[in-house]
Amino acid sequence: MKFDRIQRRQFLKSTAVVGMGLTILPSGIVTGANTPSDKLNLALIGVWGRGLAHIGAISSENVVALCDVDEEHLAEASQKFPGAKTYVDWRKCLEQKDLDAVICCTTDHTHAFVANWAMNRGLHVYCEKPLANTVEEARVVRATYLKNKNKLATQVGTQRHAIENFNRVRELILDGAIGELKHAYAWGNRQLRRPGYLPAEGTPPKTLHYDLWIGPAPFHPYNPGYFSGGPGANCLQWNMYWDFGTGQVGDMGSHTMDLVWNAIDAGLPTSAEGKGEPFNPEVSPVEYQATFEHPANNWRPAIGVSWYQGGAMPRSPKGYVDLNKIGHGAMFKGSQGFLISDFDSRLLLPIGPKADMTYYSRRPKENMLPAIGHFQKEWINACKGNLKTSCNFDYGSTLIEQMLLGLVAYRVGEKIQYDGANGRVTNNAEADTLLRREYRQGWTLNG
Ligand SMILES: NC(=O)c1ccc[n+]([C@@H]2O[C@H](COP(=O)([O-])OP(=O)(O)OC[C@H]3O[C@@H](n4cnc5c(N)ncnc54)[C@H](O)[C@@H]3O)[C@@H](O)[C@H]2O)c1
Repeated sequence: MKFDRIQRRQFLKSTAVVGMGLTILPSGIVTGANTPSDKLNLALIGVWGRGLAHIGAISSENVVALCDVDEEHLAEASQKFPGAKTYVDWRKCLEQKDLDAVICCTTDHTHAFVANWAMNRGLHVYCEKPLANTVEEARVVRATYLKNKNKLATQVGTQRHAIENFNRVRELILDGAIGELKHAYAWGNRQLRRPGYLPAEGTPPKTLHYDLWIGPAPFHPYNPGYFSGGPGANCLQWNMYWDFGTGQVGDMGSHTMDLVWNAIDAGLPTSAEGKGEPFNPEVSPVEYQATFEHPANNWRPAIGVSWYQGGAMPRSPKGYVDLNKIGHGAMFKGSQGFLISDFDSRLLLPIGPKADMTYYSRRPKENMLPAIGHFQKEWINACKGNLKTSCNFDYGSTLIEQMLLGLVAYRVGEKIQYDGANGRVTNNAEADTLLRREYRQGWTLNG
């Protein structure tokens, strides 16, 4: 009996709802190799490094496919999941017929590709941050997701979102603890300076499919330096180079802007300005800042949002608060004061004679936002149930689209006006072309 993807999906949903492992399908009883279970059939693409951080959460599911451009990493992962088929090319992996869902932990410049291709094949996707490397990639991922959102569960790998402080910050802003919101800031102080792409050195080991690692990016010669980092930190060997990543904008920017994004209910900005160290065509900036204008929504006025990195910092509202001591943080300016936050704590700073807090009443415990729990499990449960996750590809693509638009403004060196509905820069033709990039022949973003 053929138990196709759609039937499987319906089955997983029904078992998640009733919470037991039914084996009776509308079409009869299924037995043998095709026996459905309430486990997901998962592919892990990019199995080492960040991939390792997913092993715990997926070990209770059926890991049926493993994909990595490095055969040594693949062999290691196969020991944990001996039943899984192995691939070096994610495009081939996604053709495996029994898949329900994919986790993508590859290089940044392939994320939007894997995400689109997987969703186009009816697969749920968990994609590591950043979700995209260009504005266009963010928009295409969002469009593909929105077309499929009644069928698919998606999650961007910004797992800090599950820290309960994110909810507490949101409640304080929404409930008016700093009065009316005026501006939100986020920053990160990681500084990794590189002069340019690494020079050609040696040849790739036989077990590394270097051409697939380059994938859709323009070709750059092999250098072992791109692969010399420890597990989960190797991204810091390549993510600052424009063809592979966007430096701290996509890296910690994805996590730290999430603290702001979660609290401001924003869509796309109407303008962006960026400045920083001189533009290097090979390496994304270390010291850099960007500011965006966001229209009003149904609970707050129009606001500004700013991102600072690499030594650039927002001004502290009071000399006795040293924002530099917060490596990755956020600050909200309101009519009655400030809220300053890192990932797991927050500081309320009412300022001025009117800041007596009478305008604020703490929400009762029963109205507090519920904890998310385990972030990866939230997605796994969503795949089997109501498809709801905290950082789906609508939320996550909008966040990263804003961040990437800032880099476009930085590159042209002037304030750009953005038509978010159509994805166009309306006052600068060069900036408009920088929203997208060309890919190496043979690679399609939305295949
Ligand atoms: N959520 C977080 O906190 C967090 C932490 C670290 C890294 N990350 C993200 O995870 C991703 C991977 O980072 P990393 O440090 O593990 O990098 P890495 O260079 O170690 O790559 C991870 C694995 O993916 C494989 N890989 C690379 N390109 C591939 C491709 N095209 N197809 C298949 N496999 C491929 C590598 O061989 C490696 O085994 C990055 O995008 C990074 O931003 C997220």
